[in-house]
Amino acid sequence: MPSKNPSPPAPAAVLCGLAGWVPPGVVTNDDLAVRLDTDDLWIRTRTGIRRRHVADAGQATSDLAVEAGRRALRSSGDETADSVIVTTTTPDRPCPATAPVVATRLGLAGAAAFDVGAVCTGFVYGLATAAGLIAAGVARRVLLIGADTYSTVVDPLDRTSAILFGDGAGAVVLRAGDADEPGAVGHFDLGSDGAHEDLITVAAGGSRQRSAGFEPTRAERHFAMRGKEVYRHAVTRMAASARTTLGRAGWKTDDVDHFVPHQANLRILHSVADDLGLPRERCVAHLDAVGNTGAASIPLALADAVAERRIRPGDRLLLTAFGGGLTWGSCLTTWPGLAEAPQPKRTTA
Ligand code: COA
Repeated sequence: MPSKNPSPPAPAAVLCGLAGWVPPGVVTNDDLAVRLDTDDLWIRTRTGIRRRHVADAGQATSDLAVEAGRRALRSSGDETADSVIVTTTTPDRPCPATAPVVATRLGLAGAAAFDVGAVCTGFVYGLATAAGLIAAGVARRVLLIGADTYSTVVDPLDRTSAILFGDGAGAVVLRAGDADEPGAVGHFDLGSDGAHEDLITVAAGGSRQRSAGFEPTRAERHFAMRGKEVYRHAVTRMAASARTTLGRAGWKTDDVDHFVPHQANLRILHSVADDLGLPRERCVAHLDAVGNTGAASIPLALADAVAERRIRPGDRLLLTAFGGGLTWGSCLTTWPGLAEAPQPKRTTA
C-alpha cells in the first residue's frame, strides 16, 4: 500500500522587524522628589530607575503604538502585515480595541486587528498568539505592538507606583517561516493565577464597578499595587517560567546569551538571574532610562540592546515576563538579522 505523504510542518513565527519608541517628555527622580516624599537615592537603590518618559496630554496609547509599529515595519524591509495585535493595559478606550485604529493609521486597513490583555506579560502572550495565528495558517505577517501609557492610570501622588512606571511602545514583525531559522520563536511557557487578582488593579472602568452602580472614587480610578507581595511573586514566577521554557527546549542556563526580562525593578531582574544561575551581565536591563513600561518593556529593551549592538544575529535569547492577573510567560529565540536595524535613539527619530 502506498504510504501517505507526511503533512508539512506548521509554519513557525519568525521575527523579522523590531523597533521601540518613547515620547520625548522625561521625568527624572529629582522631578518626582519635588512633589512626592521620596528622593533620587531611594528610587535608584530600590528600583534601578533614574528617569522615565511620559506622554503629553492628549497623547494616547495608540499614538505611541503607531510610532513603534511604523518603525518596526520599516526595519522588516516590508511595510505590510495581515494581522495587527496590540497588547496593552491602557487602551485608548474600553471599547473599541486599540489595534484597529493603529492598523488603519499604519496603512493596514483590512488587516485582522485585536488587543491582547495580559498586563505586563502581554508581549509574551502576544508572541504566542502571533505564533498560533501563523501556525494555523490564519496569518502570514503579524505586527505585534506592546504599548502602554501608565501615566494615565498611575496616581501622581502615590510614591510607591509613580516612581516605577513610564510610557512607551515596542513592536516586532513576525513572518511565516521555519522553526530552525534564526528569529523563530518557540518553547513557550504561559501561566496565570487569578487568586491574586487584587495585587495589581485598576478597580474602576470595567463591568465589576459599573454593575455595582456607584461612581468610582479617586483611588478606584487609579492603579493600585501591593508592591512587596508583587515583588515576591515576580521573582518566583519568572524564575519558574524561565526554567520550564529552558527545560522544554533542552537548553542549559549556559546556552542563554541574553536574558531579556520584563523590566519591573532591577532588583527583581537580578534576583531572577541569580536564581537561574545566570551571570547578571547577561541580563538585559534598561529600566534606568525608561522605568517599567508595561507591555512595551521587553520589545523596548530588545530594540535598545540590538541598536547598541549588544544583541547580535545568532545570539540566543530567553524572554520572560510577569504581570498583573497574575500572569507570567517565557519563550526562546535566536536573534535574526533584520533588513534595517532599530535606531539607537529611543525617542523621536
Ligand atoms: N520613596 C521613599 N520611601 C518610600 C517610597 C518612595 N518612593 N516608597 C515606599 N517608601 C518607604 C515605605 O513607606 C517604607 O517605609 P517604612 O519602613 O517607614 O514603613 C520603606 O520605604 C520600605 O517600603 P517597602 O514597600 O518595604 O519598599 P520595597 O523595598 O519593597 O520597595 C517597591 C517598594 C514598590 C519599589 C517594591 O516593592 C517593588 O518594586 N515591588 C514590585 C513592583 C513591580 O515590579 N510592579 C510591577 C510588576 S509587573
